[in-house]
Amino acid sequence: MTTPGKFITLEGVDGAGKSTHLGFVADWLRRQGREVVVTREPGGTPLGETLRELLLHREMDADTELLLMFAARQEHLAGLIRPALARGAWVVSDRFTDASYAYQCGGRGIAVERIAALEAWVQRGFAPDLTLLFDVPPEVAEARRSAARSADRFEREADSFFSRVRKAYLDRAHAEPARIRVLDARHGIAELQSEIGRLLRELV
Ligand code: TYD
Repeated sequence: MTTPGKFITLEGVDGAGKSTHLGFVADWLRRQGREVVVTREPGGTPLGETLRELLLHREMDADTELLLMFAARQEHLAGLIRPALARGAWVVSDRFTDASYAYQCGGRGIAVERIAALEAWVQRGFAPDLTLLFDVPPEVAEARRSAARSADRFEREADSFFSRVRKAYLDRAHAEPARIRVLDARHGIAELQSEIGRLLRELV
């Protein structure tokens, strides 16, 4: 019988630098002999990537945004995440549902109950085994965002939006300390990677 794989997610405000560490996590797991699938949200499937284009670049109502995030997530779970885990692969995703709590609830102000209802519907109790939350003070993230080339709809938001997003992420980490591990993303890459390696060793 195949042992199911594990599901790891990376989170943080835009500009926290999480994408830099995605490849490190995947390579680390591959060195342990695991099959690894690297993916992202919104996106990860052909339909999900089409929804990502709309979400990042088309103006829309905040509830529409939330519903499309979860439509993309349903497709991602059904078409990629659940089948990969079932065959024993490990899945590493650049963002997942914690981002909906942080951005749509914290950032946009949508009631937490709406997100929880969609989460229960789409995930049926499924959750990541480990979430790495890359945390940086707003001014550091803002400097990294302005250095980036072209901003999408989220990256163009005001600093106050990102302060609320950060707070929502940290509140979730406080509520679920065993799953969500907070990393100080001001630290250098080498230091962060040794911390990430330590957390991954607890899981393999
Ligand atoms: P991001 O992951 O930052 O990709 P890139 O590094 O290419 O910019 O972009 C995805 C954006 O989508 C990010 O700004 C956060 C947002 N997002 C939400 O608002 N809610 C969600 O549930 C998810 C998954 C993402």
